[in-house]
Amino acid sequence: MTSSHLRLGVNIDHVATIRNARGGPHPDPVRAARLAAEAGADGITAHLREDRRHITDRDIERLMQEIDRPLNLEMAATDEMLEIALSHRPHAACLVPEKREERTTEGGLDVVKGRDHLARYVAALGQAGIRVSMFVEPDPRQLDAARRLGAPVVELHTGAYCHAAIDGRAADEKRELKRIIDAAAHAGSIGLECHAGHGLTFDSVAPVAAIASIVELNIGHFLIGEAVFSGLDSAIRRMRALMDKARADATGARSA
Ligand code: PXP
Repeated sequence: MTSSHLRLGVNIDHVATIRNARGGPHPDPVRAARLAAEAGADGITAHLREDRRHITDRDIERLMQEIDRPLNLEMAATDEMLEIALSHRPHAACLVPEKREERTTEGGLDVVKGRDHLARYVAALGQAGIRVSMFVEPDPRQLDAARRLGAPVVELHTGAYCHAAIDGRAADEKRELKRIIDAAAHAGSIGLECHAGHGLTFDSVAPVAAIASIVELNIGHFLIGEAVFSGLDSAIRRMRALMDKARADATGARSA
C-alpha cells in the first residue's frame, strides 16, 4: 500500500510526564491533543503504561470523548490493557513490548517468539473493530510473523536509525535506514499497512517520510521537547511541513 499523504500521529505521552511531575492537572495532554489536531495531526497516539507513569486511564477516557481525531492506543499485550481497549474501542491499538524498568519502548515486539501469547490479543482487538498494529524492529521475519497472526498493520521501530543519526554514526545511520526501507517494501509486498516511529526529529524525519510504502509516522518526545522552545503548534507544523516536503519530493522524483 502506498499513499501520497503521509499521516502524522502526535504522541502526547510526555505532556502527561510533565504534568505528573507535579501531580496537578497542568499541562493537560488532552489540551495538547486538541492543539495537535489544529496544527495538522491526523491522529493522536497515547501509551497507557502498566505503571501509569504518564498517560492515565482518565486521559484515555477524555481523549476518546473530547478529541475528534482517531486515537491510536499503544498498549502491552496484557489482559488488563485488553479490557481497557475493549471498553473504549479506539480507532487503533498498537501492541508494544513493555518492561517496567525501561525508560521508553526500547525495542520492537518479538512476534516470532511471542506468537502464541500475542495471537489472542490480535484476534480480540480485531474482532472488536480496532485496527491492530504491531510495533516491530525492521526485520522481515517479524513482519512475516505479524502477517501470519492476522495483524493488518505494522509499525517499524526507527530508534536504531534515529540514535545513529543523533550520535553522528554515519555508517550505522545508513545501514539502519536501509533496514527500514527494505522492511517497508517487504511489508507492502505481503499486504501489511506500514507505519513507523520512535525517536524521529526534524533532522531524521525526511528519509523515513520519503519511503512510499509508509503511510503513518508516530512522533512524540521530540515534538514535546521542541515545544519548550518554539511552542507545540509551531513544532508540529514544522514537522508536518518537513514530512510533506520529503514525501512530495520523493513522489516527484519517482514520477520524473
Ligand atoms: N511509536 C511507538 C510504538 C512508541 O512506543 C513510541 C514511543 O512511545 C513512538 C512511536 C513515539 O516515539 P517518540 O516519542 O520517540 O517520538
